[in-house]
Amino acid sequence: MLISIIGQGYVGLTISVYAAEHYSVIGYDNSEKVVSQLNRGVSHVEGVDNSLLQILIKSGRYKATTDVSQIKNSDLVVIAVPTPLTSDRKPDLSFIESACKTIGENISKRVLVINESTSFPGTLRNFIKPMIERYSSSPTEHLYAISPERVDPGRGDFNQKNTPRLYAGLTPEAAELTRDFYSKFCDKLIEVSSPEVAEAAKLFENTFRQVNIALVNEFAQITHALGISVRETLEAADTKPYGFMKFSPSAGVGGHCIPVDPTYLATAAEELGVPATFIRRANEVNLEMSDYVVRRIVDDNGGSLQAKRVLVVGVAYKSNVADVRESAAELVIKQLRARGAVVSWHDDLVSNWNGESSVPLNKADITVVITKHDSVDEQKILESAPYVFDTTGKVASNHGL
Ligand SMILES: NC(=O)c1ccc[n+]([C@@H]2O[C@H](COP(=O)([O-])OP(=O)(O)OC[C@H]3O[C@@H](n4cnc5c(N)ncnc54)[C@H](O)[C@@H]3O)[C@@H](O)[C@H]2O)c1
Repeated sequence: MLISIIGQGYVGLTISVYAAEHYSVIGYDNSEKVVSQLNRGVSHVEGVDNSLLQILIKSGRYKATTDVSQIKNSDLVVIAVPTPLTSDRKPDLSFIESACKTIGENISKRVLVINESTSFPGTLRNFIKPMIERYSSSPTEHLYAISPERVDPGRGDFNQKNTPRLYAGLTPEAAELTRDFYSKFCDKLIEVSSPEVAEAAKLFENTFRQVNIALVNEFAQITHALGISVRETLEAADTKPYGFMKFSPSAGVGGHCIPVDPTYLATAAEELGVPATFIRRANEVNLEMSDYVVRRIVDDNGGSLQAKRVLVVGVAYKSNVADVRESAAELVIKQLRARGAVVSWHDDLVSNWNGESSVPLNKADITVVITKHDSVDEQKILESAPYVFDTTGKVASNHGL
């Protein structure tokens, strides 16, 4: 079987290397930079080893391409393109539309199309299928299925093989073929009764995280006002063996999923006349955390940050990855600068970002830890400034969340 995977980012490349152990895989991406790097055997995704990529390329089981004609003879196509928000924070399906155009214009034989991109319920049935049909030059009836991706980049204990996968087809045949495809490299597959259930489950998983992170971020503000430690209080609550799940406070949520996916759910709800007030408020609470963190730092430092040298440690959205999408560090840095601070940042995994470069862990007046990678020495952070505000719980400072 020839499998084409549209989009070779975190999701698409990860699925490509697992699938390439069993099938011939074409990784189609419209970025020259991504494709040429991949074909040199260099992975840009945590969890995808260069050595494995090189073996797969050498054996002919995997090839990245920007040449759309290469997907022509595919038997199965996976969509793994971004689903971000527009500038006015609405779902942006333009990447999915462009992937549908690619499929419609280039594949004339009957194939199974599986969507792995996250989107609102109804996307497969009411958007992807009609969009591919609109762009198709022949009246071929493709098969359609959904299997939302749950990969957590940088995570060691759960991967494609041992993370249970949901799936559903628009028809029983599509569902059966989807099961056959994933069963080669995924231990547990769970079929649900419709694509809409799978799409909604994925959105709810990330909304659950968004809401609970917001709750714990609000709780961090309450415990600080009470003069008690939020982390000790959470550990105490976590001794209850049932009915509690621990989340940790932070400067905000980042990444492609948690700050974005709940908005897809809220928008879908509101279009149906259901107010998604709780989901909307959770998003706001998390976005407001950067302001809370900066206010705490101002209060602890005599009410002004004017001309203070502030070092921000970790600008990636979470530890041990280089992904800066929607990172809370961006908002924190913006607010520190708005208050007159002279801000530099240290993150060896990110190195270059927003036209700036990572600086060494130099001496500063104030250090703010937003993300702590394992490779960054805790002692060096503590020695970098007389005042260290830690938002991660991983640096033994007297100030922080
Ligand atoms: N990153 C995660 O941890 C994660 C986890 C679960 C689900 N998802 C979802 O998976 C989807 C993909 O996310 P990602 O993190 O892999 O994105 P990404 O930005 O890492 O990768 C997307 C890739 O698609 C390419 N691309 C964009 N439009 C294209 C097109 N029309 N044709 C070909 N290539 C195109 C881009 O060049 C890029 O390389 C999103 O819907 C996301 O919400 C992501």
